[in-house]
Amino acid sequence: MKELIKQVVECYGPAGNEKAIRELITSLVSPFVDEIRTDSLGNLIALKRGGEKKVMFAAHMDEIGVIVTHVDKHGFLRFYPVGGIAPLTMLGNRIVFADGTTGVVGCEKLEAQKDLTLNKMFIDIGASTKEEAEAKVRIGDLGAVSREFVDLGQRLVSKAMDARIACAILIEALKTVTNPAADIYAVFTTQEELGLRGARVAAYSVSPDVGIALDVTRTGDTPTSITMDVSLGKGPAVKIRDSSVLCTPAVRRFMEQVAKDNNIPYQLEVLETGGTDAGAIQLTQGGIPAGVMSIPCRYIHTASEMVDYADVLHGVKLVKALMETRYTG
Ligand code: CO
Ligand code: ZN
Repeated sequence: MKELIKQVVECYGPAGNEKAIRELITSLVSPFVDEIRTDSLGNLIALKRGGEKKVMFAAHMDEIGVIVTHVDKHGFLRFYPVGGIAPLTMLGNRIVFADGTTGVVGCEKLEAQKDLTLNKMFIDIGASTKEEAEAKVRIGDLGAVSREFVDLGQRLVSKAMDARIACAILIEALKTVTNPAADIYAVFTTQEELGLRGARVAAYSVSPDVGIALDVTRTGDTPTSITMDVSLGKGPAVKIRDSSVLCTPAVRRFMEQVAKDNNIPYQLEVLETGGTDAGAIQLTQGGIPAGVMSIPCRYIHTASEMVDYADVLHGVKLVKALMETRYTG
């Protein structure tokens, strides 16, 4: 599965320009689903038939990035964040644009920067004049971090585990599911990092009986981390709450039961800050029962997000089992 993960996590796709990752995922899942369509927000909605109820799985395919706000006379690009970007994580990064144009993030007098903010930084794409830069990049173009996937054996590192690892898990589950217990809507959502936007409209049009988001979550297992009962390697997490959602208790119980019945290790997750597509799904229409399976991830929203391979494989098993088990509420 590592080949699939590498392909999916390395792809370009900042929130608002998910075309390349959508095309990649379309090619990967088409052979395993009955219908596939793209809606006006760019969500990719794949259907695998299996029963009268509708179960929606949502994994966001967008990643955090930057948007170009200004090109100066020397060809340097100024930018604004797309999603939650901490200034300290940007230095030394390389930014790639849709056409492959690449630049480096720079900043004046690094040692003297006490209050580092993104508006003190610029992107240098190797141009010397405004005209030269504008031949490659225009105001409003979206950039994403450029960084290769690294396989450390048990641990895997990428700039976009959030939430491409969830996309890879959903793709793998669609490939391996044999007997779905409901109509499975696998939705690869857009603009999650901008406020769960894609999932909101996708859930409205799909109108599922239950929605389960797949994403990453923080951990409490690094030297001075927050107190949090989630660690790498102890299995996927069944979310109880985050800032966007209090998961529907019946859905959480269903997920726990399916994990137990299939001998899949899992952890319970209470995330203090952060959100997921389930927050949008749950508040769509008259309210949709919603839950979340999270893959524990260190260094979220940096160029080197780290997950555990066993958690990923257990995640695939759990999603497959959820697809094959009737949700009775
Ligand atoms: Co995120
Ligand atoms: Zn995410």
